[in-house]
Amino acid sequence: MSLNEIETQLKALQKTATDAIASVESLDNLEPLRVKYLGKKGELSQILRGMGKLSPEDRPRIGALANEVKEDLQNRLEMAKSHLETAAIAAQIEAETLDVTMPGSYRALGRQHPLNSTRDRMIDIFVGLGYTVAEGLEMETDYYNFEALNTPADHPARDMQDTFYLPNNNLLRTHTSSVQIRYMENHEPPVRVIAPGRVYRRDTVDATHSAVFHQVELLAVDKNLTFTDLKGTIKEFLNQMFGEDLPVKFRASYFPFTEPSAEVDVQWQGKWLEVAGCGMVDPNVLKAVGYDPEVYTGFAAGFGVERFTMVQHKIDDIRRLYNSDLRFLQQF
Ligand code: DAH
Repeated sequence: MSLNEIETQLKALQKTATDAIASVESLDNLEPLRVKYLGKKGELSQILRGMGKLSPEDRPRIGALANEVKEDLQNRLEMAKSHLETAAIAAQIEAETLDVTMPGSYRALGRQHPLNSTRDRMIDIFVGLGYTVAEGLEMETDYYNFEALNTPADHPARDMQDTFYLPNNNLLRTHTSSVQIRYMENHEPPVRVIAPGRVYRRDTVDATHSAVFHQVELLAVDKNLTFTDLKGTIKEFLNQMFGEDLPVKFRASYFPFTEPSAEVDVQWQGKWLEVAGCGMVDPNVLKAVGYDPEVYTGFAAGFGVERFTMVQHKIDDIRRLYNSDLRFLQQF
């Protein structure tokens, strides 16, 4: 091959390689080009193999030209590489850009259900009066729900109409009074406990009745407790619950587990509201748990949580408390 031919080939190589490098669009395609043109078995080396036949005078010229082409292509490869790297970073930044002006995803703030906040207020008041919180079971036996509470087998409260009976002599407790027995069985007097919880009755659901509702049970047993202590405790509780000193009435009533028994009415905003059943713990109940009724007396009461919630928040239908309607719940 002649000097001219080699020169022409080198120039042609430079041109093709320059175009190829210029049109590369990804980093991955760059290295194959380097190998193709400048690699050991690349096109440049192929051309230089023809140099052997040149005269010693011509060789340096071709050598110089070959170096020039090689350096030029190396520079171009370097530059292409750095451009593509910059572009890749720019693309990544672009793809990962956060538009901080875009609206965030809305997370609703939870809030306490009005039944729970009312229950907690009731608990707090009694805790302030020295009571502790006791818990029982929602599935009970006939013994704890009725028998130990001096409720005879023929008592109407035991009627299938009122109680959800379950297999194996179990039932869903109809009141939190069952916790009285469970607590006293495991503790010696003096007793000062409250038992908040869910209770069940086979009531037909309407604006004022629900098959599931909530009570707070109160129980105190000690030496020398009297009806006056009961009245004072309930009066104090109601004063704190309503935030003012309201007229309170104790109306004679009947419960199997208390003697005497009363129902408690409070006059609020001109209306008498029935808010609790109460009484002195029947000696038979004390006997059932092994307390000596000659030594100890006690008083007890049962408050409805729904009642307080509904009057204080002016809720007209008990069902609103259970149907999870956010439009209703968001008001609290
Ligand atoms: N357990 C009764 C009910 O559910 C309420 C009650 C009345 C509870 C008198 C008591 C009490 O502790 O002494 O209707």
